[in-house]
Amino acid sequence: MAKDVIIALDFPTRRETLNFLDRFPNGEGKPFVKIGMELYYAEGPAVVREIKARGHKVFLDLKLHDIPNTVKRAMAVLSGLDVDMVNLHAAGTSAMMKAALEGLTRPDGTRPLLIAVTQLTSTDAAALKDELLIETPMAETVLSYAKNAAASGLDGVVCSPLEAALVKERCGEGFCTVTPGVRFAGGDAGDQKRVMTPEQAAKNGCDYIVMGRPITQAADPVEAYRRAVNEFLG
Ligand code: C5P
Repeated sequence: MAKDVIIALDFPTRRETLNFLDRFPNGEGKPFVKIGMELYYAEGPAVVREIKARGHKVFLDLKLHDIPNTVKRAMAVLSGLDVDMVNLHAAGTSAMMKAALEGLTRPDGTRPLLIAVTQLTSTDAAALKDELLIETPMAETVLSYAKNAAASGLDGVVCSPLEAALVKERCGEGFCTVTPGVRFAGGDAGDQKRVMTPEQAAKNGCDYIVMGRPITQAADPVEAYRRAVNEFLG
């Protein structure tokens, strides 16, 4: 399975995003990047097309969650942007996940990878029980959602690097794990609570690591990106 480092482009505008990407030299492989809600809602699909045209692979992190027909039609639109990876909330149920896959599949049979969010890492055990009314413990809930995503035909889940090995064990080696919460040894964890280094993430079965601030806020982002790739891919 492909393994790669994905840079989270958490910038508010197209200009700041392109200024950042301009630092990466032509001639070297262009980094795989993640575009999230902030940039997408600010700049729309044009910014996705522009970044794709520059030669980057794109993970469009919009976390869809709606009735199956709406998600199917929205996914068809996103697939038409020629992105490489998209995601949704597994909480939308298998009917929604299967509809999403149908919508994503292009006339030639290709489609972006489809990844599920299980439970947001911002949801703690108390909120799970008291607000979402889920009595099952968090770890089991996450694994159950992941298995449901796998059974629906999805390609993988977003999870903590600490959960990646267990997800593989339960859902199969071929089910891919996309993991934020990655930090360089000795670096600032910021607001991430449970972190791993790129090297540890690779050992724990992560297929794609998503790194934002350790690269975007580095004094030399290109050097930080190369370090992440070297540590992760070995
Ligand atoms: O800057 P940092 O490396 O923490 O960025 C991680 C990226 O992954 C951000 O875009 C963040 O929104 C995203 N993410 C996360 N934790 C999750 C899901 C997504 O940090 N559970």
